[in-house]
Amino acid sequence: MSTLIINQQRLIDDIMTLAMSTEHDTPGWTRRFPSDAYRRGRQWLRAHMEAEGLRTGLDAVGNLFGRREGSASLPPIHVGSHTDTVMGGGKFDGVLGVLGALEAVRAIREAGILLSHPVVVADYLSEEATDYGIACMGSLAMCTDHFQPSWLERTVHGISLRQAIAEMGGQPDRLGQPLVKAGDIAASLELHIEQGPVLEAHNVKLAAVSGIVGIRRAIFELHGKANHAGATPMYLRRDAMAAAAQMIVAIEEIVHAHPGTVGTVGKVVVTPNQGNVIAEKVTIIPEMRSLDMTEVDGMWAEFMEIVQVACTKRKVTLDIFNETRMDSVMPPRWLHDLTLDVCRRYDPHAMITPSGAGHDTNYLALIAPAAMIFVPSVDGRSHAPEEYTAPEDLARGVQALADLIVEVDRCC
Ligand code: GLV
Ligand code: MN
Ligand code: MN
Repeated sequence: MSTLIINQQRLIDDIMTLAMSTEHDTPGWTRRFPSDAYRRGRQWLRAHMEAEGLRTGLDAVGNLFGRREGSASLPPIHVGSHTDTVMGGGKFDGVLGVLGALEAVRAIREAGILLSHPVVVADYLSEEATDYGIACMGSLAMCTDHFQPSWLERTVHGISLRQAIAEMGGQPDRLGQPLVKAGDIAASLELHIEQGPVLEAHNVKLAAVSGIVGIRRAIFELHGKANHAGATPMYLRRDAMAAAAQMIVAIEEIVHAHPGTVGTVGKVVVTPNQGNVIAEKVTIIPEMRSLDMTEVDGMWAEFMEIVQVACTKRKVTLDIFNETRMDSVMPPRWLHDLTLDVCRRYDPHAMITPSGAGHDTNYLALIAPAAMIFVPSVDGRSHAPEEYTAPEDLARGVQALADLIVEVDRCC
């Protein structure tokens, strides 16, 4: 066991304070990119980091960093996650990884430990997929060259992505090239709730994540022709809704044929959305996930063939926007073993488990050794207001995270 003492009450107070920054008239604990609530929450976080003596700043996409210098001239260890939520989300997804990182850094200082590496507490921008169609946007723009300047023009609720990033403090015109390169970061660590039922089912309190799924996703805009639902014969219709329905069912059938994979269309936006009018325009955001990216790519190709058929058959046209492909990742062996080792200090039965959720770590892993720790989610619930992890389980996760920071500092 280490000499680091995690202040459980302080951690919970921080989580509850951030939870108070939620959007009005939304269910649960909603704080989406680019809402006022999200901006306010991050302003509080930034001030809180500064109160802890961290030097804060934003990069060009709007990732928020709080940095404590180390004793040597070395690249920093990044520790963090995200503070945005899904619509109707909970209090812990992402938030634990950011406020847990802050608590770990405080505990390290209070224990009088001076690390060799700088440590950066990171709040990566807009991890959750939004109607801009991009998930893990902050870490994607930071670590890859996938960010397309054309994405900046997409407008949601009257706000272009360019404006949205600028309002969060970013500099959108600087995006397109990676903001960091391999070697700029010594290691990346992320503590997260499991968001599934496995740890609880095994009565296990900590897990080292063995791998994180890869995801393909895009915005599909299907254009048909609005017309009378009674007077328009079937052979003269251009029904965007029917085309979308065929695509939605196709995803389900394709992933069923590939055990271990998942696929979803979680949102459908229909215009004009009336019972007796053929749909003129339907927007869907299909996504597919697996730990095996070759399988995802194969399924996506299969899906695209059906998409073509669904459109051609109905003379529906398709525009695809903001297509992303996030690779599945595994931690390097040494870091995985170290992560499991610190988890077993605090739970001898700590297990190894994969992540079906995507995380900022998917992109951080492209430029640095990266690992994740999971704590249990009660009833396996997440992306819902009921999301819950007991305070002692949250604190145990932060304890393991703090130990891991110290161990990684020693060995890289
Ligand atoms: C993020 O929570 C995701 O996996 O979609
Ligand atoms: Mn999430
Ligand atoms: Mn998350």
